Amino acid sequence: GVDLGKLLAQTGLVTLDPGFVNTAACNSDITYIDGDAGILRYRGYPIEELAAKSNFIEVSYLLIYGELPTQQEYDEFSERIRRHTLLHEDLKQFFDGFPRDAHPMPVLSSAVSALSTFYQDSLNPFDKDQVELSTVRLLAKLPTIAAYAYKKSVGQPFLYPDNSLGLVENFLRMTFGFPAEPYEVDPTLARALDLLFILHADHEQNCSTSTVRMVGSSEANMFASVSAGINALFGPLHGGANSAVLEMLEGIKNNGGDVDAFVERVKNKEPGVRLMGFGHRVYKNYDPRAAIVKKTADEVLSKLGSNDPLLDIALRLEERALSDDYFVSRKLYPNVDFYTGLIYKAMGFPTKFFTVLFALGRLPGWIAHWREMIEDPARKISRPRQVYTGATERPYKPMDQR
Ligand code: ACO
Repeated sequence: GVDLGKLLAQTGLVTLDPGFVNTAACNSDITYIDGDAGILRYRGYPIEELAAKSNFIEVSYLLIYGELPTQQEYDEFSERIRRHTLLHEDLKQFFDGFPRDAHPMPVLSSAVSALSTFYQDSLNPFDKDQVELSTVRLLAKLPTIAAYAYKKSVGQPFLYPDNSLGLVENFLRMTFGFPAEPYEVDPTLARALDLLFILHADHEQNCSTSTVRMVGSSEANMFASVSAGINALFGPLHGGANSAVLEMLEGIKNNGGDVDAFVERVKNKEPGVRLMGFGHRVYKNYDPRAAIVKKTADEVLSKLGSNDPLLDIALRLEERALSDDYFVSRKLYPNVDFYTGLIYKAMGFPTKFFTVLFALGRLPGWIAHWREMIEDPARKISRPRQVYTGATERPYKPMDQR
């Protein structure tokens, strides 16, 4: 019965924890991570099992509702998602307004933010029916928004969703297909993308998910909160890392493939030079997702007949780093995104688009956390404290004395 938070507040004591390395902001039933043992579970189910046996729609249901669906629940859930894939025609005009070379991540977050203007009933976060509708709308429409952002960037016509297809197949068709031309979905590609979405679907209180919860704690609706999460994911230290890895590998290739020289630059801590796709705030042993992705990269690249020289550079870079005390002593291992970029590239996605794929995968996690946050009886508006380090009191100085 003792409210530790209230008790601490009365003492006037404040903890300083930049980056919240040791501070928990909530209780959560969704995802369990043991960073030392390399364990990741969604609602108790090991990520390895879900990756091998489940699919992205089922994992989305599991994260959001807490249990694996029965056949009937699964059918109803996927059917509802299929029926909400269309975008309002007026929303399409937004895409025309952006410059063609715009980065797709701010295009994505703007379009998601704009959903609040089209679905104004969504503004009350305590209306349970509306929360259900917003959940389905977001899951269904984000792939369409992402495909439209892609089509805009390459100057090709938009394709309406084909609701006879599943979520991933529909997304691939809207992205790579053309109107009035048949598009054969490559099952290898669709399964690999589905798997990558599963691996990205949640990761407890990461930067973007914490952002979603923080914005939502002011009782902002799901669209506004997820839009903020997409912006948080944009940064290269978070979701932007998958694009940054590919840029790094390209850079090494253009310098003659000299992995050692690049590693030396990282170790010398040249400003802005990090081994992208390595290191993690929580995993200090290995990232269990990285092991699955590496295997998938091998399979997909060989099935697609890709012999990308960047794969060889990535393998050599990993081997070099893992046998170097600099990385070993700092517990730096490949994270989920060290190999994803190579797969996305082989699938035909441009580098700038990789982080959008991360957002599509992370969406069910954001929704699950927003819903858990809004239903939490212990919820409070997020409002960190600070340690003030500025000037002490001083008199105002008139302009002519400054
Ligand atoms: N390359 C080189 N050195 C690194 C790297 C890296 N990728 N990551 C950490 N280090 C070093 C730091 O310089 C520091 O060394 P020091 O003690 O000599 O100063 C030490 O390792 C600890 O690093 P921190 O920055 O304190 O670790 P933190 O937990 O804050 O950072 C992060 C985690 C942001 C993921 C970091 O490892 C990083 O920048 N990695 C590259 C970007 C990346 O891949 N991000 C994706 C993360 S996973 C995801 O979002 C899916």
